[in-house]
Amino acid sequence: MNVLGIETTCDETAAAVVAPGEGGRGRILSNEVLSQIAEHAAYGGVVPEIAARAHVEVLDRLIQRSLDQAGLRLADIDGIAVAAGPGLIGGVLIGLVTAKTLALVARKPLIAVNHLEAHALTARLTDGIGFPYLLLLASGGHTQLVAVKGVGDYVRLGTTIDDAIGEAFDKVAKLLGLGYPGGPEVERLAETGDPERFALPRPMLGRREANFSLSGLKTALRIEAEKLAPLSSVDVADLCASFQAAVVDVIVDRLRVAMRDFAEVAGHPTALVAAGGVAANGAIRRALSAQAGEAGLAFVAPPLSLCGDNGAMIAWAGIERLRLGLVDDITAPARARWPF
Ligand code: KG4
Ligand code: ZN
Repeated sequence: MNVLGIETTCDETAAAVVAPGEGGRGRILSNEVLSQIAEHAAYGGVVPEIAARAHVEVLDRLIQRSLDQAGLRLADIDGIAVAAGPGLIGGVLIGLVTAKTLALVARKPLIAVNHLEAHALTARLTDGIGFPYLLLLASGGHTQLVAVKGVGDYVRLGTTIDDAIGEAFDKVAKLLGLGYPGGPEVERLAETGDPERFALPRPMLGRREANFSLSGLKTALRIEAEKLAPLSSVDVADLCASFQAAVVDVIVDRLRVAMRDFAEVAGHPTALVAAGGVAANGAIRRALSAQAGEAGLAFVAPPLSLCGDNGAMIAWAGIERLRLGLVDDITAPARARWPF
């Protein structure tokens, strides 16, 4: 079973071919990703119209390249999976219409995948883990703690009431005059900074529900930055380190609550799983790994290349759904919002 996956919901254009592999894992036959970061960098964030146009320009060639890399023709593909949302609607439409066209012409099943579900199932592609598991999904647009009980069977234990974690990293970076996307930049500078120089707040610490709130932390950092302006490179590094340390503390505390709630809705988890672009952050990964260890859980985080948006995770979610007969047709809608 070879499934083609197409991803165009944000600022990465991606296409991949994945097949079922050994030990319940997937076998990635190709995974082509073209980032538009350079096109959006000047604006400090993703510009929807620019993103949509860039997807149009490269998607066809990227799909062809992913088939070539896999050594397959369209006729050899058993299903066409596409991220049908949530995301920027212009980009989502381009991926979805392309996938529908290919599915119709080649007479293949179409699988309309939820982008968040694809992030959530990536740990099964890479590690073949079983259900249920506790997921921290943290990206530029989403922050969710989820009990993943099965394909299509998710219980949300917590979310953010304001900024997403990745968004907070991006906003802090912008505030400090760093590049976009902010996460990698903040992490790089935090390595040389003093995490204790600024006593930033740890919002929601000790609260009963596993929800996040990050805008207060960002505001506190802005106030510190304004007091010091103009900032030296040491100030910037210390602010980054202090911010990252606060985020890590918040995540660890929220996760503690989520672990307790997990037991009520899903029993004992097989693992703690991190997904989404923020899972690329080394400090966060280390904290999660330590916390999983304390709780006697395996910690699974996809390799960096599969943390950010990619086509392999869409193809894999397509395999998971196709196996269960969960296919879609020409009427599958493009969704800007699509809770999972
Ligand atoms: O999953 P993703 O590629 O795209 C979506 O938002 O769906 O995540 C991108 C987000 C951005 O906000 C970026 O700043 C953040 O993930 N990110 C990081 C790191 N690398 C990427 N945040 C913190 N530390 C990082 N190393
Ligand atoms: Zn994503």
